[in-house]
Amino acid sequence: MTIEASVELDLAANHRCDGEAEGVFIVKLGGALITYKDDYCKPNTAVIKEFARVLRARWSELQGRLILVLGGGSYGNGVPYRYNLLDSYGNWRPVDLSMMTVKTLEFMSLVADVFRDEGIPCYPFQTSSYLMTRNGEPQNFWIEPIKHALSLNVLPVLSGDMVFDSDRGFVIFSSDRIPELFVNSVSVKRVVMLTNVPGVLNDSEVFRRVAPEDHELVLNKASASRQQDVSGGMRNKVKCLLRVANLGVESVICDGRDPSVLLHALFEPEPPGTFIEPREYIRRENDLCSSPLPELTAPASLHK
Ligand SMILES: Nc1ncnc2c1ncn2[C@@H]1O[C@H](COP(=O)(O)OP(=O)(O)OP(=O)(O)O)[C@@H](O)[C@H]1O
Ligand SMILES: [Mg+2]
Repeated sequence: MTIEASVELDLAANHRCDGEAEGVFIVKLGGALITYKDDYCKPNTAVIKEFARVLRARWSELQGRLILVLGGGSYGNGVPYRYNLLDSYGNWRPVDLSMMTVKTLEFMSLVADVFRDEGIPCYPFQTSSYLMTRNGEPQNFWIEPIKHALSLNVLPVLSGDMVFDSDRGFVIFSSDRIPELFVNSVSVKRVVMLTNVPGVLNDSEVFRRVAPEDHELVLNKASASRQQDVSGGMRNKVKCLLRVANLGVESVICDGRDPSVLLHALFEPEPPGTFIEPREYIRRENDLCSSPLPELTAPASLHK
C-alpha cells in the first residue's frame, strides 16, 4: 500500500468528532539536535528522520495526543541576526520582515516531508498567523485549528516565529514559549523538551526533580546557550517550564542526542533528565478560553 493510501485509511478510520483530546503531550525538539545550530539554515535531516521513526513506533498511542514544536536552531537563531529582526526599533528593512517566517516555513515543510515519508500525517502551523503579542507577551491567539488537527489524528507542527506585537511592531517569539499557549485550553499531560545536554545542570550534576520550592535555585543555575541562541538558552527554557508547572502541568528537559530517549521522556513516571513537578493547580472556569491569555501563574491562594 502506498503511504498516501495508508494515511488516508488511518484518517478515515480514526477521525474523532467527539470533543477534546485527553492527555496531550507537547514535545519540543531542540534546535541544537535537529539543525546544525551554529550554521545558517542547515537542518539535520538524518536526526529528524530518526525522531519520526521513534514516534512512528508508538503512533497508535500518540495520534491525536501529540503536538510537535521545532526548536529554532540554525533557522530561528540565524535568520533574525542576518536580517536585523531582533529588535523592531533597530535598523531592519521592510523587505526583510518576512524572512524569519519564510525560512521557518521552509524548515517546517522539510520536517513535514520527512514525517510524511515515515507515514506520520502532520500539518505545519505558522505561529504569526495565530498569535499576536503585546510587549512580547501573548495577547491574543486562536488555537482552534490546531485542536481540530488533533481531532483528525494529524500531528500539528509548530515553531517559534517573528510575530506581530501591538506595542513594538514585531518580536521574535521563542519556540520554548509555545507550550504555554496550550496549558489553559488543552488537557496537557506532559511537556517534553529535548536538547543537547542531559538536563538542567547544577554545576556537574543534573537536577533530577524540581519541586515548586526549588524554582529559584534551578533558575539561578540555568543560563545562556554556548551556541547562537537569540532567546536565552537553558534559562529561557526553564523560565517557560516553571510557568507551565505553575499552571499545573509537569515537564521534562532531557538529552535527545539519542532520539529513542523521547519515548522514556514521554511515558515514564521517572523520566531521564530533569523532571519539573506540577504545582497543584485548580483550573478556573474562565481558564478554558484560549484568548486572551490569563496571567501565566496560578493565583497565590492556590499554591501549595
Ligand atoms: N544549567 C544549565 N544546564 C544545562 N545547559 C545549560 C545550563 N545553562 C546553560 N546551558 C546551555 O543551554 C544549552 C541548551 O539550550 P539551547 O537553547 O542552546 O538548546 P535547544 O533548545 O536545543 O536549541 P533551540 O533553542 O535552538 O531550540 C546547552 O547546550 C548549554 O550550553
Ligand atoms: Mg534555545
